[in-house]
Amino acid sequence: MADFKKSVVYQIYPKSFNDSNGDGLGDLRGVIEKLDYIKELGVDYIWMTPFFVSPQKDNGYDVEDYYNIDPRYGTMEDVEELSREAEKRGIRLMFDMVFNHTSDRNQWFQKALAGDPKYKDFYIFKKGPKPGVPPTNWESKFGGNAWEYVEKFDEYYLHLFDVSQPDLNWDNPEVRKEVQNVIKFWMGKGIKGFRFDVVNLISKDKFENDYEGDGRRFYTDGPNIHKYLRELNEATFGTDAEIITVGEMSSTTMENCYQYANEDGKELSMVFSFHHLKVDFMGNEKWVIVPFDFQKLKKILFDWQVNMGKHHAWNAVFWCNHDQPRVVSRFGNVEKYWKESAKMLGTVIHCLRGTPYIYQGEELGMTNAGFADISQYKDVESLNHFRILQEKGLTEENAYQILQIHSRDNSRTPMQWNSGENGGFTTGEPWIEVNKNCSYINAEAELQDEDSIFHYYQKLIALRKEYDVIAYGEVKPLDEKNPSVFAYEREYQGEKMLVICNFYGKKVTWDSEKELGEYQCVLSNYEVHNIEGSRIWLKPYEAVVLYKK
Ligand code: GLC
Repeated sequence: MADFKKSVVYQIYPKSFNDSNGDGLGDLRGVIEKLDYIKELGVDYIWMTPFFVSPQKDNGYDVEDYYNIDPRYGTMEDVEELSREAEKRGIRLMFDMVFNHTSDRNQWFQKALAGDPKYKDFYIFKKGPKPGVPPTNWESKFGGNAWEYVEKFDEYYLHLFDVSQPDLNWDNPEVRKEVQNVIKFWMGKGIKGFRFDVVNLISKDKFENDYEGDGRRFYTDGPNIHKYLRELNEATFGTDAEIITVGEMSSTTMENCYQYANEDGKELSMVFSFHHLKVDFMGNEKWVIVPFDFQKLKKILFDWQVNMGKHHAWNAVFWCNHDQPRVVSRFGNVEKYWKESAKMLGTVIHCLRGTPYIYQGEELGMTNAGFADISQYKDVESLNHFRILQEKGLTEENAYQILQIHSRDNSRTPMQWNSGENGGFTTGEPWIEVNKNCSYINAEAELQDEDSIFHYYQKLIALRKEYDVIAYGEVKPLDEKNPSVFAYEREYQGEKMLVICNFYGKKVTWDSEKELGEYQCVLSNYEVHNIEGSRIWLKPYEAVVLYKK
């Protein structure tokens, strides 16, 4: 069985990873070229975000054809070669399956629009209560009402995301069969990992107006969600113990995740949850500027750590992905302690209980894009909200300030390979601008520097393989209310690990309940430590990992 507890996953956003043919877009051959780099880091899996045929309204999360490769990314032969070449290096691929919705260009939706009743029932079409009024007041995650009117039927279809991403009707058994066929097809190609996009939204509950929120309570973790996941598991990936799966759980509850990611293996191997990444939101409202709440961040992460453990369920642990701003810009300090804070943040995540995910460039300490002109932004969500924010009365300047913090494009700028033109990403015109700091934040420089963030991530990955306590141990939060220290203990069969991290740029003294001298320091972002008895004097953003058997 694949031991996902000892594994680390590296996420590739192919469009921004490496362009092999100079058209400005990253591609599959570009990924093949960089496999040695990924192997050097030491990861076990590569999660590839979607590269299936797609009009790219949402960069591939709008799938037109689940069985074919978008020519912009390459060919089926390229996918097969990528899989073979990765396997040679002991790395497996995880494909990204988007089944809450399709693209409106998908033939199922095209047939639905043409009036074919079989395919109309693949989607969620409803009448409005009266002319001009959509069936419910639910909001699309990308802004605006979640229903689109189709005059021909005098009906609306549901799109929880962009208008070009109609939601599939999972209550229709034929839809579920089609989804199974897609997974079986990719299993047939030897794929051993699957990520399921916003999969906890597939079972819709009542189609009612939401007077308290944006509608999410009517479609999140819906009534048949566990039934549908179990069915999918039994019919497809559950038949192969080598396959690992992760579900992206939007606005989920912990209680549901106990089931989604239970060790009994009936649903998925693990889950992504996002509550810890809303600590710089106002409630669920992302398009605001508020400083991050450190106490909340710790509380949420610790709650999930402890309770998922108690209920024998498994987390994916992460700071970054293609939807999140860069963590070093978000919770670290790029100006003064770029290296230290990036390493500290990596330590907090990698020593937790769960499978760590690294998003391309995180291992280099890549930072937010900082775009200051709308023409630089490409993401549909950012473009919509730039408009919506101004419609709500914010100045253009305010709207830019918010995008600079929260836009998904912050993490979608091209991978910085070297200090040359376009950071070595492409010889052509990149589809989105390369961050200027590629002059000093880049893979080439970091590979040469012993003390780089890259080499620190390499050590974090190696540590998980070396110490069973990281993979299998229990988690005990320490000094939870401390205003600047993030500390926890791991324990497994007599092995103990203490992870002590200063989350801020000010020195701080931390007192442990243990005699720290009994521990050996196995990793830190500083060379020298000030430890005496049970006391440690932490330098700015210092992280120490202490071990004892
Ligand atoms: C997920 C993806 C995101 C996409 C959305 C709709 O949240 O990670 O990139 O836009 O689903 O598919």
